[in-house]
Amino acid sequence: MAVSIQELKDKFQELYGEGGSIRAYFAPGRVNLIGEHTDYNGGHVFPCALTIGTYGIIRPRQDRKLNFYSVNFPEMGVVETSLDGLTPSEEAGWTNYPKGIFWTFEKRGYHIPTGADILIYGDIPAGSGLSSSASLEVLTGLMLRDTFGFDISMTDLALIGQYSENNFNGMNCGIMDQFASAMGKKDCAIFLDTSTLDYEYAPILLPDAKIVITNSKVKHSLVSSAYNDRRRESETALKDLQTVVDIQTLGDLTEAQFEQYKDAIKDPVCQKRAKHAVYENQRTIKAVQALKANDIETFGRLMNETHVSLRDDYESSCPETDLLAELAWKVPGVLGSRITGGGFGGCTVSIVKNESIDLFIQSLDQPYEEQTGHKAEFYVVEVGDGAHALD
Ligand code: GLA
Repeated sequence: MAVSIQELKDKFQELYGEGGSIRAYFAPGRVNLIGEHTDYNGGHVFPCALTIGTYGIIRPRQDRKLNFYSVNFPEMGVVETSLDGLTPSEEAGWTNYPKGIFWTFEKRGYHIPTGADILIYGDIPAGSGLSSSASLEVLTGLMLRDTFGFDISMTDLALIGQYSENNFNGMNCGIMDQFASAMGKKDCAIFLDTSTLDYEYAPILLPDAKIVITNSKVKHSLVSSAYNDRRRESETALKDLQTVVDIQTLGDLTEAQFEQYKDAIKDPVCQKRAKHAVYENQRTIKAVQALKANDIETFGRLMNETHVSLRDDYESSCPETDLLAELAWKVPGVLGSRITGGGFGGCTVSIVKNESIDLFIQSLDQPYEEQTGHKAEFYVVEVGDGAHALD
């Protein structure tokens, strides 16, 4: 974190004045190790919370005003709005995320009695696909729960975040990102069954290796519309399959069942999307079994297969992230490497042996810049806890 909590509080007081109860909170970003585009298909995911994320300072007000300020967007100044008549707007920029959480609380019957002054600071690289928006949603939910004394579980805060993102922000995301931000646990990834929300923590204390995130620094436009298209294509495939087999989600199928019934999916594009969803879900289950058996090589190989499937069948990768993965696969000591998150740019996640980390960075850095004109960034990450109060 580049700024201390005290500095954030000082800035808060400078903007909004002193006095009252000023509290600080944090909600992390996430990286998904395996299980991509399965969370809205009733499958499994395996994300972990990072130690980077979004910090928030809050104090309730006496009136119904909402004031937002982000240290990351000082040019926007204090963005003022009201608890009444909350609607998303383009000018509202990043504040549409916290506004959506206030709106969702009201919709769910959690009546917020007064407005609030809020200051935000995030240290997740912008546009990296490491869930800065989910962390802001979960953070806001936690701040509202604590400030106004609601009895809401962390799982429900994740669901509130997802609802808000789907219905206030128009991005039809699944539950993975908000769940990881709310429920993360230090040194563990979360093996989550998105059809039931049953979950289990799996330690990822890799004695000889590290998780390295490589930021491609590209974010292709229309990400949320491309994402929403994928979701629709998966739903079309499911409807076609339901004419021949009794399933609730694509996650209900094994690979063999998919092969048996796939011809029911009329559109070849939808068939490829469904193939990814089914195989990826099964891959995730196998990967977690491998990890539990300390077979990190198999885990890494399955990560590589995920990349190929996202590249060829789900088509949610892009030339830049394909290049990063392909360069990584050639480096000795790289156990696995793939695009992570929603896709169409963003980051790859790699498991790299400790002694190979320098070689990994050297082998990707220059060729990537030469071939794409972008300077990749590398983060050797730690796995942290889910959202919590800081004081
Ligand atoms: C985004 C969404 C998640 C999930 C991933 C892909 O991060 O917010 O819900 O669908 O993409 O796995």
